[in-house]
Amino acid sequence: MITIRNLRKSYGSNHVLHGIDMDVKAGEFVVMLGLSGAGKSTLLRCMNGLNQPDSGTLQVGGIDLMQTHSRRELARHVAMVFQHHNLVHRLSVRKNVLTGRLGQVGTLASVLQFFKHSDIALADQCLERVGLAHKALERTEALSGGQMQRVGIARALAQQPQVILADEPVASLDPKTARRVLQYLRDATREMGIAVVCNLHQVDYAKEFGDRIVGLSQGRMVFDGAPAQLDDAALNAIYSTDTQAADAATSPSHSVHAPTGPWHAGSAQLATSAGAM
Ligand SMILES: Nc1ncnc2c1ncn2[C@@H]1O[C@H](COP(=O)(O)OP(=O)(O)OP(=O)(O)O)[C@@H](O)[C@H]1O
Ligand SMILES: [Mg+2]
Repeated sequence: MITIRNLRKSYGSNHVLHGIDMDVKAGEFVVMLGLSGAGKSTLLRCMNGLNQPDSGTLQVGGIDLMQTHSRRELARHVAMVFQHHNLVHRLSVRKNVLTGRLGQVGTLASVLQFFKHSDIALADQCLERVGLAHKALERTEALSGGQMQRVGIARALAQQPQVILADEPVASLDPKTARRVLQYLRDATREMGIAVVCNLHQVDYAKEFGDRIVGLSQGRMVFDGAPAQLDDAALNAIYSTDTQAADAATSPSHSVHAPTGPWHAGSAQLATSAGAM
């Protein structure tokens, strides 16, 4: 579903991504961890066509993003879930979900907001998946933050995408609501065979919900493995601010991560406090 090879991206003289390699399969839920500024959002934005990489290979949902492509074509394959859900508050919940269909319906229909019965049925099905079918006709502004994020997920599902990219989807939610939202996202995408890349700052959520975890440090992939493999040494490599540690972790002799010292509570707090930023 996603194939990335030697992907590089700079902003002026700021080299943000230093040759990323990554594959994500259909139905796989990949959590991306890393310190603030590691390049997580930049990588997601490349996958969604919002950033143009400098070089490398980038194929998402069958589309070669290094070649010219239309946004409409991309929207048919790739959906995004944002931290601040980007919903239209004055519209009903169902209408917000239906905006996920705008890439699929014709231009005139989308201007007139004319949706087929099948689109409405699909929107309601997607709301059902996130446990909000009973809210379909309510104004979105009447929902809680967690419910709004579930509407954001339903909207992404309504796009019937092959890939969902989620950038800190639970950053502004309390822990209980955050876990619920992640559970809905994970279960729906697993059942629908959608590949997910989800940026998070919470290591415990990554371990609980990720089929796989990737760790980014200073624009380099320093960990790629199962949640059970995410030990103290791996966390130390991901959350290290030491360039040498990140380099060592990506050297050929350390295919997954390099132990660079004990993982201690101070680093754990670093990860947690970064999540609150
Ligand atoms: N539009 C932009 N223009 C210039 N520099 C940018 C832009 N977006 C990001 N950067 C820079 O790229 C680097 C990586 O930023 P990015 O937002 O990808 O980090 P992140 O891992 O998502 O961090 P966070 O956890 O805080 O969201 C930072 O140095 C940032 O300043
Ligand atoms: Mg970010």
